[in-house]
Amino acid sequence: MNFSETHPIYTDRVYTDRDTANYPSHVAIIMDGNGRWAKQRLLNRIKGHEKGAETVRTIVECCREIGISILTLYAFSTENWQRPKVEVAALMTLLANFLKSEQKKLLDNNIRLNAIGQIERLPENVRNALHNSMVLTEENNGMLLNLALSYGARAEIVGMVKDIAIKVREGIIDPDSITDEVISDSLYTKGMPDPDLLIRTSGEMRISNFLLWQIAYTEIYVTDTLWPDFSKDEFMQILKNYQHRKRRFGKV
Ligand code: IPE
Ligand code: IPE
Ligand code: MG
Repeated sequence: MNFSETHPIYTDRVYTDRDTANYPSHVAIIMDGNGRWAKQRLLNRIKGHEKGAETVRTIVECCREIGISILTLYAFSTENWQRPKVEVAALMTLLANFLKSEQKKLLDNNIRLNAIGQIERLPENVRNALHNSMVLTEENNGMLLNLALSYGARAEIVGMVKDIAIKVREGIIDPDSITDEVISDSLYTKGMPDPDLLIRTSGEMRISNFLLWQIAYTEIYVTDTLWPDFSKDEFMQILKNYQHRKRRFGKV
């Protein structure tokens, strides 16, 4: 599957009355802070995840409206499997429900759903819900919603190295012909442009094993806002901030 073929940078922006010059094509978000949001309110962490799911709806809708081509959301990391069993189970239930409840909206809004990560580790009901939505939305080209689920960048890189090593052993590729493109094409994000903008909520100044290869030249924005409190207004402010950045890519 090559997303660049099926998913050209599209132009059918719903709103045109906004300065969209230099908008990012691909936005990635580390949605952090659900637990702290709940703790502040003396609630169970699960309540924070539930509220966080509402923010996901808001931001997906907003990205579609303003014409973002790809939105990649870090929803569950390979390390998150080490959380207490009840929390992992609650997150998986929430995810399955979310996928079912959003299916119609994805179709109505021409959004294609994709997942990146060790999908095989997810429970069967989540895998089925994912598969259904992915197949149903396969032809959509208004926006690509990429969910990073059971995702870890190191696992992704290990997989890429193994793939390429096998191809070298079998004589399919020559080590001298390994380029950036060969590597990019062996990652989950094959065919997608790298993120232009990475947002992390909740103030933590770290990457937490997200898209290590793909963010080489991505602009980073960290906000103290906890993910359940993150709003469309703040998102739009961050885009405005991004619009004024000078991306040099190592040049002068
Ligand atoms: C992000 O919120 C959601 C996931 C990682 C699944 P957290 O659950 O990490 O919230 P904090 O960091 O504990 O506040
Ligand atoms: C990163 O958040 C993973 C997701 C948002 C899914 P974490 O809460 O797991 O990251 P750390 O533990 O603070 O680095
Ligand atoms: Mg966290």
